[in-house]
Amino acid sequence: MSGAWAAIEQVERRSLSDLFTAEPDRLSRLTLDEAGIHFDFSKTHLDAGLVAGFEQLAAERDLAGAREALFSGQKVNVSEGRAAEHSAERGQGAPESVKRAQLLHARMRALIDAIEAGAFGPVRHILHIGIGGSALGPKLLIDALGRDVGRYDVAVVSNVDGAALEEATKDFDPATTLLVIASKTFTTTETMLNARSALAWLQEGGVADPYGRIVALTAEPERAIEFGVDETRILPFSESVGGRFSLWSSISFPVALALGWNAFEELLEGAAAMDRHFRLAPLDRNAPVLGALVDRYYANVRGAATRAVFAYDERLRLLPSYLQQLEMESNGKSVTIDGEAVDRATAPVTWGGVGTDAQHAVFQLLHQGTQLAPAEFVAAIEPDHALADEHHHQLLINCFAQGAALMAGRSADDPARSYPGDRPSTTILLDRLDPATLGALLAFYEHRTFANAALLGINPFDQFGVELGKQIATSLDSGEAESFDPSTRALIARAFGGAE
Ligand code: F6P
Repeated sequence: MSGAWAAIEQVERRSLSDLFTAEPDRLSRLTLDEAGIHFDFSKTHLDAGLVAGFEQLAAERDLAGAREALFSGQKVNVSEGRAAEHSAERGQGAPESVKRAQLLHARMRALIDAIEAGAFGPVRHILHIGIGGSALGPKLLIDALGRDVGRYDVAVVSNVDGAALEEATKDFDPATTLLVIASKTFTTTETMLNARSALAWLQEGGVADPYGRIVALTAEPERAIEFGVDETRILPFSESVGGRFSLWSSISFPVALALGWNAFEELLEGAAAMDRHFRLAPLDRNAPVLGALVDRYYANVRGAATRAVFAYDERLRLLPSYLQQLEMESNGKSVTIDGEAVDRATAPVTWGGVGTDAQHAVFQLLHQGTQLAPAEFVAAIEPDHALADEHHHQLLINCFAQGAALMAGRSADDPARSYPGDRPSTTILLDRLDPATLGALLAFYEHRTFANAALLGINPFDQFGVELGKQIATSLDSGEAESFDPSTRALIARAFGGAE
């Protein structure tokens, strides 16, 4: 075991209440304000001794060196031999990568201007087809920021289940629909099938030139051309931008179109502010790093198998599913960068929901269950609706009450009515939910994910775990069921007929 882990594990375990008594400066050390966001890590068990131990671990793992390698465009994604340059999309990275990203953004803007000037004829509906990182980011952004925009109706279709496409197109008029095909690789089975079916829908809907209604967002423009998309309607992005980190690239084309270019730029600027903070702030005053220390402490010292995120804001209801891909696809690994088996737990399962709904559904387990599930609350101080006074007050009060109750607990004569307390939570409070603050929030989560990976010595930028299932689906689709297990053969026979 590394010296740092030994030091971390030896730190005396004190309750949260004791920590607040023992460390009078706790609130000022474990809260910080950055880019319009207040981070409060004080209701976690991080104390001065643990932070010092983790600083030692960060030094052993060379977190600072890894961070510099990330921002300077080095090939940090070693298994795939490429850099991870999502921050270059927001102006923070190797100069040549930043320049390239800016040129590609300019190309996106020119296409948006052309569409707005009528180059595609009337456009009222945007049908965005993509999956995973090519869908979750735009979906979250449109849902969070685009509720009142009303210029375009945007539907994001990801699932290969035909019901999803049918549902999305039911109120769309083919004559005024722009078909956006988003796929980094332009080979993903689900996206390609949905794209072909959407094209057929346009055709059947009387659109004379359905290919002329397509915009493709991809790192493989040649494949989009082969598919039949005109080169002028392809918005490329760099291969070194990972799928789950791609919402800063042309993958957010429907966002920039629907919300306006200024909103997209503000999103990037907010993220850049968080980039600068992550890059420059000392580790013990660095929001993404402190978030990662919390994650490592509970996963590796207290054995927490999950981490729960609750958005106390309807506009952020898709945040947990966005974070599931970001955190679990990045860090759900079992080998280190050098190919050795990791010696401790990697990513916990990310789950969550919306407050206050979740309070009446899953919080029982948080308060009294046998599993430790560190909770994270995300809320905005400023509401955006007319029912602000009572509703928003109630919403925030409930959010803060949960953190207080988890920590304080309460004993009673009846064990069933007792709350053990001393349960950790983090609170992230946005001044308001706007493009800049949301950009900063999502960049915070990206860097936290990266910092976790650096502390574990794993590569957060590949995702080989998803490949086997894809390959087996292809084999089964080609009628190669006989080489598989009896259960799989029987399921196929039952669904499609034929011999087991
Ligand atoms: O299957 C996983 C994955 O490769 C994700 O990493 C990615 O975001 C998603 O599929 C979609 O990939 P693409 O953008 O290439 O269609």
